[in-house]
Amino acid sequence: MFATRQISSLAKRAFSTTAASNGAKVAVLGAAGGIGQPLSLLLKQSSLISHLSLYDIVNTPGVAADLSHINSNSKVEGFTPKDNGLKNALTGCDIVVIPAGVPRKPGMTRDDLFNTNASIVRDLAQACAEHCPKAHILVIANPVNSTVPIVAEVYNKKGIFDPKRVFGVTTLDVVRASRFVSEVKKIPVEDAKITVVGGHSGVTIVPLLSQSGHKFTEEEVKALTHRIQFGGDEVVKAKDGAGSATLSMAFAGARFTNSLLEATVAGKKGIVEPTFVKSPIFEKDGVEFFATNVELGPEGVEKIHPVGKINEFEEGLIAAAVPELKGNIAKGKKFMA
Ligand code: NAD
Ligand code: LMR
Repeated sequence: MFATRQISSLAKRAFSTTAASNGAKVAVLGAAGGIGQPLSLLLKQSSLISHLSLYDIVNTPGVAADLSHINSNSKVEGFTPKDNGLKNALTGCDIVVIPAGVPRKPGMTRDDLFNTNASIVRDLAQACAEHCPKAHILVIANPVNSTVPIVAEVYNKKGIFDPKRVFGVTTLDVVRASRFVSEVKKIPVEDAKITVVGGHSGVTIVPLLSQSGHKFTEEEVKALTHRIQFGGDEVVKAKDGAGSATLSMAFAGARFTNSLLEATVAGKKGIVEPTFVKSPIFEKDGVEFFATNVELGPEGVEKIHPVGKINEFEEGLIAAAVPELKGNIAKGKKFMA
């Protein structure tokens, strides 16, 4: 799927010295889970990864043995907490993807996961800060609006927070938006490029349909906006207690990881992905982290795009998102305080 590319010498210098010369070391934490397994399978296909390091509290040796038979060039290793597994999984990593944590059941909000997932993410981030302090951290575990500030605080406390290297993965929201708009407008997904800003839960997910170049009726805008904001609930309901989105999330997580690899390892320019990062855009409103389109570069975040021109309806959506985000971010920071 991903063609072999020359690694730019600039990107190589910017990358960890422990990265193998032909690619990056990427760790997936929570690799035996519903997202972790298909995500690891997709990452095994990347020619920009030389070493795939799989960590979970259970079952990773089996997942790693299975994936290691696939004839792509990366080496695969599986670790559990035994024998310093987390340290060994992380040492030398360039990118760490974190889907570790519990998923929702019907009737739950993402915030209901906070009590369990906050400490899982904190402990894993502490290990990353210790064993691979320069790695890019890609947070999938929910509630993303709070777990990303937790990771930032772990690094802040050690005085090593680099806002270019900590990302909340919100790619699933744009993947869904593209698919849902393509269904309504009966157009190919390639022509349905939808910017989604804000955060990753309910009203904090703000699709900017007015920027898509397509015309929508008022009913279409309302229905699409609601579906994009609450798309996760559709899957949670359909899975009926067996978890939340895993396969579409693995697809979205692999897309974001591959984009970051293209920018960092392959030195490709102009790669833009939406992601929840430390951002100045709503800082004056007390919102330190915000998702917009972000250009990725050799160090991670290269340029944070502004929200851009929006209409009155979308201004209303942002006005609803900002206070909710402020509370979610404060909750993560308070947990760390
Ligand atoms: P899952 O229960 O299937 O898998 C989670 C895995 O994490 C399990 O294998 C578990 O053993 C592991 N784990 C738990 N504690 C750990 C620890 N301390 N260290 C390492 N591994 C640990 O859940 P899932 O469906 O894969 O979802 C994982 C998380 O991703 C959930 O919080 C879910 O809400 C979130 N999610 C986020 C998005 C997004 O768009 N960002 C989308 C879907 C799901
Ligand atoms: C999603 O958007 O599918 C994920 O955040 C999982 C969830 O809890 O809905």
